[in-house]
Amino acid sequence: MTILRNLSELNEWRAQCSGQTIGFVPTMGALHKGHFSLVRESMKQANLTIVSIYVNPTQFDNPEDLRKYPNTLESDIKELKDLEVNAVYLPTPSDLYPNGPISKAFDFGSLARFMEGIGRDGHFEGMATVVTKFFELIQPNFAYFGEKDFQQLAIITRVVQQENLPTVIVPVKTERDEDGMAMSSRNLRLLDAQRKDAGNINKILKKWIFRKGYRSSTPGESSELLANEISHYENLTVHYVTFADSKNLEPIASFNTSTPTRIFVAVQCGNVRLIDNFPLF
Ligand code: PAJ
Repeated sequence: MTILRNLSELNEWRAQCSGQTIGFVPTMGALHKGHFSLVRESMKQANLTIVSIYVNPTQFDNPEDLRKYPNTLESDIKELKDLEVNAVYLPTPSDLYPNGPISKAFDFGSLARFMEGIGRDGHFEGMATVVTKFFELIQPNFAYFGEKDFQQLAIITRVVQQENLPTVIVPVKTERDEDGMAMSSRNLRLLDAQRKDAGNINKILKKWIFRKGYRSSTPGESSELLANEISHYENLTVHYVTFADSKNLEPIASFNTSTPTRIFVAVQCGNVRLIDNFPLF
């Protein structure tokens, strides 16, 4: 596995890749099984796989979250090597932001208007800025994104269409712990009691879906009911439980099985903001 520590090393590696398809997995490190499932998809589909590790400052609106973002670089590199990834790119800030850490402007339409688009100022602009910059530098044939961050995935898919970029965006299913909790780098920051409470979020939502709770209520009533149930746990404070159209990510006014719908949730647990989502129908 080649470790690329700056743009000129990346360019040198990229120049040797002609005639091969390239799969790209962008990450912010503190790698876990969720990241590795993206890597495996890439290794299946593309001739060469490159993973980036970079904690992108422009997508953080909370300085403490940025400062405390977990860093496990040494073990990340070891695990990527064991998986036989071809290259890992550890960019310098000036590789990506030669004029300083400033986001570009985008029009995401309704995709960034709800859920994570509320109360996280500039998050998606920062994310799309760094991802499109990576695409420009790496020129991948495929790029892999987790459904765990469904809004991010939808937004990048739209940007690629709008800007006519040649990269194919490949969605990958959410990897979960045994209790159903979506894996996330930030889970490392949870204390034991917090982690235990957090495991109930998915269970509560799944139980409600299993009982077909949507048959007898409106999305608003269901959101309130589920939020109350989650808030019962001492360490959990609900930011939102939202039912949204899977295509345009607008909240739905009524349940209709012919409209593909997902349930989206954000919950504060200690100092960590957790998000999850899955399809309802
Ligand atoms: P990060 O949170 O490190 O996630 C990198 C990729 O892994 C994202 O596509 C994310 O959706 C995916 N991922 C995270 N947890 C997952 C899980 N449990 N199952 C499946 N996939 C999972 O998302 C980012 O970094 C950044 O915004 C980035 C795209 C790198 C831009 O800075």
